[in-house]
Amino acid sequence: MGQNGNLPAFNSKFTLYMGVCWIIAAFGGLMFGYDIGISGGVTAMDDFLLKFFPEVYERKLHAKEDNYCKYDNQLLQLFTSSLYLAALFASFVASKLCTVIGRKWTIRLASLLFIAGAALTAGGVNLIMLIFGRICFGIGVGFGNEAVPLFLSEVAPSNHRGAVNILFQLFVTIGILIANIVNYFTSKMHPNGWRLSLAIAAVPGLALFLGSFVITETPTSLIERKKYEKGKTVLKKIRGVNDVDAEFDQIVSASEMAQQVKHPFKKLMKLSSMPPLIIAIFLQVFQQFTGINAIMFYAPVLFQTVGLGNDAALLSAVITGLVNVISTLVSILLVDKVGRRVLLLEACVQMFITQSVIGAILQVHLKSHGNTLGHGQAIVVVLLVCIYVMGFAWSWGPLGWLIPSETFPMETRTAGFAFAVSSNMLFTFLIAQAFLSMLCHMKAMIFFFFAAWIVIMGLFALFLLPETKNVPIDLMVERVWKQHRVWKKFMNDDHKNRVEAGR
Ligand code: BGC
Repeated sequence: MGQNGNLPAFNSKFTLYMGVCWIIAAFGGLMFGYDIGISGGVTAMDDFLLKFFPEVYERKLHAKEDNYCKYDNQLLQLFTSSLYLAALFASFVASKLCTVIGRKWTIRLASLLFIAGAALTAGGVNLIMLIFGRICFGIGVGFGNEAVPLFLSEVAPSNHRGAVNILFQLFVTIGILIANIVNYFTSKMHPNGWRLSLAIAAVPGLALFLGSFVITETPTSLIERKKYEKGKTVLKKIRGVNDVDAEFDQIVSASEMAQQVKHPFKKLMKLSSMPPLIIAIFLQVFQQFTGINAIMFYAPVLFQTVGLGNDAALLSAVITGLVNVISTLVSILLVDKVGRRVLLLEACVQMFITQSVIGAILQVHLKSHGNTLGHGQAIVVVLLVCIYVMGFAWSWGPLGWLIPSETFPMETRTAGFAFAVSSNMLFTFLIAQAFLSMLCHMKAMIFFFFAAWIVIMGLFALFLLPETKNVPIDLMVERVWKQHRVWKKFMNDDHKNRVEAGR
């Protein structure tokens, strides 16, 4: 049954309709990515600051800057990161919604919230509107990031699940890139360029909203809600074959087990749920401790720090954005062939070396006061950042979302995945909030700080992360957790008992 090699575990054929569903759902990633990319740029625009944060603007004008302490301002960082706090709480609500009303409706709600967020922030006349807008964006991101990766993992045939799920991350990276390009142009449009930047967020929201009338509900979600007939019809439609009995029966039996669990969150706290939960949370925490968002949010500031002019710095940020997109494609091609672990481990080596060398160059050549780096050195730093982003983009970026969406049994899947989403949001918030202050205080040492975390996550992946390539999503307990050297000790009761324990 296709556990080895690249054989499908169950019958399936690619259908155009399926491909369309994947792409539409992945627009949820575009909403998330666009926001990651847009906020830093908008908060750097003087017109925006003058309108909503006049004191910050004043201080920016008169600030005594040193090379490592450019725009360090907590209030402004809070504007960027507040969205992640809203998303953190929203992901738990989304978990319940995904179970009760399904993945498709949760995706539709996410798109509506995102459109509302774009309207409120782009049309913002005071801080209250702006904050409400950010909260709508945040809830939209929380809903979308919970529902979309689950949707993709559930509709994909198991032998292509990695690639299909990574479409989400691919669209995240495209969103970041588009936002960087948009900011580049709108920053020159006075006085309302920032409004345009924020308004464009409605485009992926609208695309997702319209698309949500085209996509199907996942068979898992239908069967979970006892719509067996419909579940089977949809399964035939998305698999492109008539003989889906084996897969259907397997989802039904997973769902019967799941039905017995009345309190998924309580069940998650049981010993036997710990392995996927620990993996899900740590993958997301580590993903943020690679330091990626220090680059994604603040690349232009960082590149100015090393001595590039304003335009060159923005342009370099566009280049790293492009590298991010292209390298994610590499992950799509490789993840179901070489597996998850190889990608994660290789990238740790690549990211460790680049972060350490960047740290060393800055430590030696960039003092707080006085000259910035020479032009040649600044180019080397940009190149190293590109190699670093490459590593992230084919490993911890996509796999931080993929693995948690595919490793929980059905009874705890939405609840467990909510922990992954909220851990992502919490640590994105912390890094967004703290990075500029950390850069200001730790100076070049901040790169060694991230490099040290990369060693820790490498060891974690080496010893604790099981390979999930090609394993059908509802057979993870038997084929993965019960077989793993460390995690099997948590799983020594049989599946049935585990379900009973969670009632
Ligand atoms: C992460 C984001 C990050 C992005 C960069 C995503 O997987 O969750 O925090 O900004 O990748 O491409």
